[in-house]
Amino acid sequence: MTNISQSDIAHILAAAREVRLNAHAPYSGFAVGAAVLASSGCIYTGCNVENASYGLTICAERNAVAAAVAAGEKSLSAVAIIADASEPVPPCGACRQVLVEFAGDVPVIMENLSGQRRMLSLHELLPWRFEFKK
Ligand code: THU
Repeated sequence: MTNISQSDIAHILAAAREVRLNAHAPYSGFAVGAAVLASSGCIYTGCNVENASYGLTICAERNAVAAAVAAGEKSLSAVAIIADASEPVPPCGACRQVLVEFAGDVPVIMENLSGQRRMLSLHELLPWRFEFKK
């Protein structure tokens, strides 16, 4: 796993916690906030955005990646995810694959609102992942 400082951990967790408040989750009632730290040092955030046509829902993590890419970033160095759950919430499978497009073996920090925290690397979360190599 690549390195991350305690201060970067604190900053991306705070950003994820704040953006979670903007989640649009009227169907599940499960608000998620995510923040990604780009290699430039900038932080980008996303929340889950649900839809009345449930399958159109986009997860917080993918929205954070989209915000980073829209700002011109192509390399991510850490990810934070916050939700109100009994345990820290890991990214879904689809989000793991999307993160792999822009991040190597980076720390993924997951925290619930009570402050319980887990940190795993992206490659631990998605072993034997698909990358486009010929
Ligand atoms: N959700 C995320 O935003 N990220 C995840 O990694 C897991 C699930 C959202 C999608 C949906 O709005 C709600 O949580 C319940 O699945």
